[in-house]
Amino acid sequence: MSRLQAEHLYKVFGRRPEDAVRKLEAGASRDELRADGTTAAVIDASIEVDEGQIFVVMGLSGSGKSTLLRMLNGLLEPTAGTVRIDGQDLTSLSDKELRKVRSEKISMVFQHFALFPHRSVLENAAYGLEVQGVPRAERTRRATEALELTGLKGWEKSWPDELSGGMQQRVGLARALATDADLLLMDESFSALDPLIRRDMQDQLLELQKTLKKTIVFITHDLNEAMRLGDKIAVMRDGQIVQIGSAEDILVRPANDYVASFIQDVDRSRVLTAGAVMAEVGTVLGSTTPDGGKLGTAAEFRAAAPATVDVDTPLVELFAPCSASSVPVAVTDAKGALVGAVSAERLLAVLGEPAEQDATPALPAQPLVKTSAEAHGDNEPEDKVIAGA
Ligand SMILES: Nc1ncnc2c1ncn2[C@@H]1O[C@H](COP(=O)(O)OP(=O)(O)OP(=O)(O)O)[C@@H](O)[C@H]1O
Ligand SMILES: [Mg+2]
Repeated sequence: MSRLQAEHLYKVFGRRPEDAVRKLEAGASRDELRADGTTAAVIDASIEVDEGQIFVVMGLSGSGKSTLLRMLNGLLEPTAGTVRIDGQDLTSLSDKELRKVRSEKISMVFQHFALFPHRSVLENAAYGLEVQGVPRAERTRRATEALELTGLKGWEKSWPDELSGGMQQRVGLARALATDADLLLMDESFSALDPLIRRDMQDQLLELQKTLKKTIVFITHDLNEAMRLGDKIAVMRDGQIVQIGSAEDILVRPANDYVASFIQDVDRSRVLTAGAVMAEVGTVLGSTTPDGGKLGTAAEFRAAAPATVDVDTPLVELFAPCSASSVPVAVTDAKGALVGAVSAERLLAVLGEPAEQDATPALPAQPLVKTSAEAHGDNEPEDKVIAGA
């Protein structure tokens, strides 16, 4: 179910913003408006964020990410368009109703989380609850839990300046998690951290998300971060959303040259998954291994395969098993049913394939890379007998 929805959002700063929207709708460019002294920060943006999803908005500095986010939480009024949270149109609410929605449903985590220097780590983590008027005992209990979730158990009584930057950012995350708000808006939350700590925070967010299942909008200018975290990614350029899709969709089918140039340095082996590149099981069955072993049935294939991996396994983890055997790696779906095979040749062909759509597949007559929906077996495995093997 969609928790957060934005339709045809515009934000123009400067004089006569509504006129500017009409000009934009009629095809005027952002640069033409700038000549009049107005800035079109967000142009005709529509997104839909589902319950439990991490939705990443990615774009270079000045592309409009923060402006979009501030409209999503009602801090900025759109020049045109609507924002709905749980079906409720934010622009139809009074200031009081809007504040209530913000304090009950939404938590924000910023790039430089401003902690109160004269409050302990615990008091800082409990701050959002304090604002909500939650009694002290319950505040303490929930903030303590949230600090434990973010790996700060034992630091409750410390002062912020005794913590490293990464730890301070964790306090910010704990503050957001301590409230019941299950819509988390994160603006460059990890961007100020060292690369290793940043990666650690990304892992931790993904791990927390497995149990907490918050609905998250995460803003970043870092494509690798977007690809690691995002269930869905919106790429912004000059105020417009130029593509929305999964990491795989964007990597394999970039919407235009801009996105294509953006993704050229991405490590495909960490984004593409076994499920997206596997060949059908039928292409392996009936063959023999170089030393004469028969791969007649699914069970024989599974026994001979150097490894069996889940559809969501990134390709980087297939290099070792693929190089150790001439038999392809077996791929199973979430239920453990055999759904495909990845051979060393296929692995190399996929990673060597340029991002352009119509690259000629070097291997079996099926697309080398599937869409994420196909890879997740939204279509049944071809052979039910195999599925039971
Ligand atoms: N209050 C404002 N008044 C005028 N112009 C603004 C205002 N806020 C943002 N802008 C302009 O809108 C555009 C988008 O800004 P925004 O902060 O949304 O970008 P961003 O993608 O978040 O960038 P960054 O990655 O640097 O944070 C920029 O050109 C900016 O100068
Ligand atoms: Mg910003």
